Amino acid sequence: MLALRGRRVLLGITAGIAAYKGAELARLLVRAGAEVQVVMTPAAGEFIGRLTLQAITGREVRQSLFDVSHEAAMGHIELARWADLVLIAPATADVIAQLAAGTARDLLTTLCLASEAPLLLAPAMNQAMWRHPATRDNVARLMQRGVRFLGPADGEQACGDVGPGRMLEPAAIADRVGAHFGGGRLAGRRVLLTAGPTREALDPVRFLGNRSSGKMGYALADALLAQGADLVLVSGPVALPTPRGAKRIDVESALQMYDAVFAHVAEADIFVACAAVADYRPGDVMGEKIKKDGAERLSIECVRNPDILAEVAALERRPFCVGFAAETHDVEAHAERKRRAKGLDMIAANQVGASQGFEADDNALLVIWEGGREATGRQSKVRLATRLTELIAERFDAQTATQNP
Ligand code: C5P
Repeated sequence: MLALRGRRVLLGITAGIAAYKGAELARLLVRAGAEVQVVMTPAAGEFIGRLTLQAITGREVRQSLFDVSHEAAMGHIELARWADLVLIAPATADVIAQLAAGTARDLLTTLCLASEAPLLLAPAMNQAMWRHPATRDNVARLMQRGVRFLGPADGEQACGDVGPGRMLEPAAIADRVGAHFGGGRLAGRRVLLTAGPTREALDPVRFLGNRSSGKMGYALADALLAQGADLVLVSGPVALPTPRGAKRIDVESALQMYDAVFAHVAEADIFVACAAVADYRPGDVMGEKIKKDGAERLSIECVRNPDILAEVAALERRPFCVGFAAETHDVEAHAERKRRAKGLDMIAANQVGASQGFEADDNALLVIWEGGREATGRQSKVRLATRLTELIAERFDAQTATQNP
């Protein structure tokens, strides 16, 4: 990670169980060439030893605001000026509250107040604490001031709960710090992406599904993350690993996908709808398994699902909207019609048919936006995702520039 070479990272470690991962994070940053100065809150020492961090970073760990010898050498204001970036990982609910209120009761919060360097926080706390309205308010206030949040991830917690609040893995945090310095074209941009198929339940054991493998969406997730995006990935059922650094929300049905998207869309700068969403779902989901009972025919009445993308694009305060169109013929004309009908900023169309599109590893896209188009030619989904991400970043920047000249 060349972007980190010679960068000065002030790594704040606060008192949470994830503090032990601070050692791995410090090691990854140092190995990538960064100078790392650890500053711990007074209680963080209960979770990780200063000696460990000192051995990894080659610098004495700072913890106290009132340390005479340290203040004589590099005082807290000099330390605040020294940093190219302040990263707090883990960031507890308490430090987030203190930062939102602007208090300076210990060395770390004082440094944050005194430093003009960008501030990145990797939260780690119990899921109820993360969901608490007080924390939601504090996070919103900090985001408004330009503070960036890395994660948290969803999953099993040290306390036994399951939900949002796990600290991102150190490798994912180090990647994001690298992307920050590397000036990824989407650094700091919040992207919401849907991927994979949906499953519409018929009865407790059967569903209506489709052949989407999620490969294109997941390749796009990797490409967006590589450009530094903060990514929320709403995924239908797929057999693919979570892209490193993405916040993944697993859903099954179109209605669940709708709810997950609308729970996050207000915070998104860009929305990319790559999922193959079922247009219809069975009107009545049987409570018990449907029996044959000798019948030769079975009719299932279906009802329309909401069009997630069209509804997002119709919002008054809406993100930059990108859709996909799988067409069997007249690709360009159908895609452009769809782009206009759904009110999209960009559409990526592909021809589907035998061995093309779903499940395959390569594909060809025709990308259309207002006043422009690009045909990519046939290539791997990974390369397509990289090019599409560049086009999204270009068009997003162009649009933001005309809106805020
Ligand atoms: O209208 P059509 O299904 O062809 O549109 C495809 C695009 O719309 C894709 O980007 C897909 O993710 C999105 N879509 C959606 N919700 C639906 C149907 C499609 O977000 N219910």
